[in-house]
Amino acid sequence: MTQLEQPQTSETAFVPLEKIVSLCKRRGFVYPNSEIYGGVSGVYDFGPLGVELRNNIRRYWWWSMVQTQDNVVGIEGAILTHPRVWEASGHVENFVDRLVECKTCKKRFRVDHLPPENLEQRKCPNDGGELMEPRTFNLLMETYLGVVEDDRVKTYLRGEACQNIYLDFLNVVKSSRMKVPFGICQIGKAFRNEVTPGNFLFRQREFEQWDLQFFVHPSEMQQWFDYWKQRRFEWYRGLINHKDRLRLREHGPDELAHYARQAFDIEYQTILGWQEWEGVHWRQDWDLSRHSQYSGEDLSYVDEVTKERYIPWIVETSGGVDRTFLYLLLDAYEEQPDPQGKSGETRTVLHLHPMLAPVKVAVFPLKRNNEELVTLARGIYERLRRLMVAQYDDTGSIGRLYRRQDEIGTPYCVTVDFQSLEDQTVTVRDRDTMTQVRVAIQELPAYLLERVTWQ
Ligand code: GAP
Repeated sequence: MTQLEQPQTSETAFVPLEKIVSLCKRRGFVYPNSEIYGGVSGVYDFGPLGVELRNNIRRYWWWSMVQTQDNVVGIEGAILTHPRVWEASGHVENFVDRLVECKTCKKRFRVDHLPPENLEQRKCPNDGGELMEPRTFNLLMETYLGVVEDDRVKTYLRGEACQNIYLDFLNVVKSSRMKVPFGICQIGKAFRNEVTPGNFLFRQREFEQWDLQFFVHPSEMQQWFDYWKQRRFEWYRGLINHKDRLRLREHGPDELAHYARQAFDIEYQTILGWQEWEGVHWRQDWDLSRHSQYSGEDLSYVDEVTKERYIPWIVETSGGVDRTFLYLLLDAYEEQPDPQGKSGETRTVLHLHPMLAPVKVAVFPLKRNNEELVTLARGIYERLRRLMVAQYDDTGSIGRLYRRQDEIGTPYCVTVDFQSLEDQTVTVRDRDTMTQVRVAIQELPAYLLERVTWQ
């Protein structure tokens, strides 16, 4: 994919989260879940534009990680699993947050997020009230399988999507004849009773993860770990405008997850500071060994050539679809002086990569009350919508229609004018540069497809 190079610089101020929240609601990207009942903290729904953007993000990941790789296959596991899975994975025991609650304002804080002086003095950072003793909360969401009261089995909604990959490891080896080194990918929902959900899509209770679990011989672990760390970093780098807001950060020993021997975060800098986008984890043989032990099923692998039997080690790359959605919007959002508007007017534009933009092209007739223009524009729209997500609009002046599309990141706008009736060409206007070129109607599908699809 071509790298996204946009006119923005690192000096551009960080976009306040409220701007994105407001745009998402106003233009149909994201809605608060169950809003008419007062909402549910940390749970969101995706609207008509949101679902397009989300699908594009997912598809591009799948295309890069599975479709174009010889040594990677995909699966889609269930959200529900046998309850023992979460004992074997260590989540029942270790997937916990330590919390303190303020006696007066009742707010809860993660112990590891509190300033040390507040913890020492037991003083609430919100209202100065007294903090209670720290308590431990497990983040797994419980649910029950079965309908009859006494036969119901307690299990968990998966706390991390990747567990299915370990559960299906042997099935994939047997059914697809993959040989180590190889990877299994999955995109799927995960659920966590986050104690402090917040910052919009950043920390939710229901969210979606994409995982690669790459199985290697222990002697090749370091080289594959380095390879995937770099490869995933470059993948994110290709999607953003602000290249200098992306970095790799190694975890300190006190940060490592219970299974990790080494870990890096790919981090992105926003108004929320430097925060994780994706984790690259050295999981070693933890997962397959634990599931072998807990299930009694031998999950070791036999090398057909050397006949060596061993538990493969695992490099994990695990990121969030929702966090990608949020970060891409924060990265793409810009308010700039509108050179075509009245003095002091601004245009809001989303500099999303064209292949990810929810709407690829919008088609307008120059005059809505001219039947010939409308008929031609509608015909072009009908043709394009079969190839890509397109919109037809004739409900305002052309300038206004451009602004509407800029705000949702539509990379191209096509205007049918009087010249179109004479020579069968249209103007194609570029979202970022606002320049216009004339393109023959006949050539339009190829012209646009070349610019909005990945290859
Ligand atoms: N299997 C490893 C694992 O789950 P993680 O760092 O806990 O690792 C991976 O999660 C990614 O999932 C994170 O980098 C982040 O993008 C996303 N993620 C984690 N918790 C999230 C939450 N509460 N809301 C939204 N995204 C989350």
